[in-house]
Amino acid sequence: MKFDLKKLVDQALKEISQARSVQKLEEIRIKYLGRRHGILTRITQEIPKLSMRERAGIGTKIKEAKEEVEKALAACPQTTKTTATTIKIDVTAPGKSGEPGSLHPLTKVLEEIKEIFHYLGFTWVEGPEVESDHYNFQTLNMPPDHPARDVQQTYYIDEELLLRTHTSSMQVRYLETHKPPIRVLFPGRCYRRDPIDATHFPTFFQVEGLLVDDKAKMTDLIGSLDFFAKCFFGEKAKIRIYGHHFPYTEPSIEVEVYHPKKGWLEILGAGMVHPQVLKNGHVDPVKFQGWAFGVGADRLTLLKYGIDDIRILYNNDLRFLNQF
Ligand code: DAH
Repeated sequence: MKFDLKKLVDQALKEISQARSVQKLEEIRIKYLGRRHGILTRITQEIPKLSMRERAGIGTKIKEAKEEVEKALAACPQTTKTTATTIKIDVTAPGKSGEPGSLHPLTKVLEEIKEIFHYLGFTWVEGPEVESDHYNFQTLNMPPDHPARDVQQTYYIDEELLLRTHTSSMQVRYLETHKPPIRVLFPGRCYRRDPIDATHFPTFFQVEGLLVDDKAKMTDLIGSLDFFAKCFFGEKAKIRIYGHHFPYTEPSIEVEVYHPKKGWLEILGAGMVHPQVLKNGHVDPVKFQGWAFGVGADRLTLLKYGIDDIRILYNNDLRFLNQF
């Protein structure tokens, strides 16, 4: 015989009885029973070298040898002793206190915008960030080659899909599936291929507002935005309005808010929803009118908390985040 099973088993049992730790026992198990290189496992490969007489019943003998070692390992007092000490738990010990978390300032601002408009009867809905050219541009009166597309440096995924450049992309999507009266916000992340600097980042957040009913008026839009500015920045906040141009609103305005240190700052675009946009959303522009606005949540966050660089909102620096 090229190997002596009895001797091998005796040797294994001796090593087991001398082992003082679970780790040592595990080493022994691998040494003898390991699936690839265990001594008792490899022995099977020796069988072809045995004479016919030696081979008789050898399979059963190897199996029994393995079982004996396994049994010794399982019954080993070291295993039970060590395991018992490891799982001993002092239930009266004081717990570890967790680090309290807090909301990101941008999240706080998004929540606050929602809350203020909720007071005016608005709900909110989130839409897809991967959007079609159709909803991001075409249904908003920006056919291919329209010059207004140039200012929105777009990340295209393919001919039809892109990363939305603004939350206005939700307007027609929503109109198609909801009947007026409508009062809804579309908060969410947008993307533009802007070079990074203190005021630009390739991703940013907007909140779009859309109101459609049979008596929507520009004066209500201005009043609502003034109300929003006062709630958000304080009673003394002032807004002023300029005529502007957006392909999806007619007339269009731009709104500036007065910042005591920085003066007048542009915070949002708005206007009366263009009749063609209503039609695109299967809403009859003769019966219904609407107003809409789109506000940059990052800009509002920087203003509210006196932060002067947008990049700080996105780099997850705990020294910054811990201040909120
Ligand atoms: N989509 C515009 C932007 O990203 C903002 C905007 C302007 C939204 C006018 C509107 C609007 O709903 O009526 O700059």
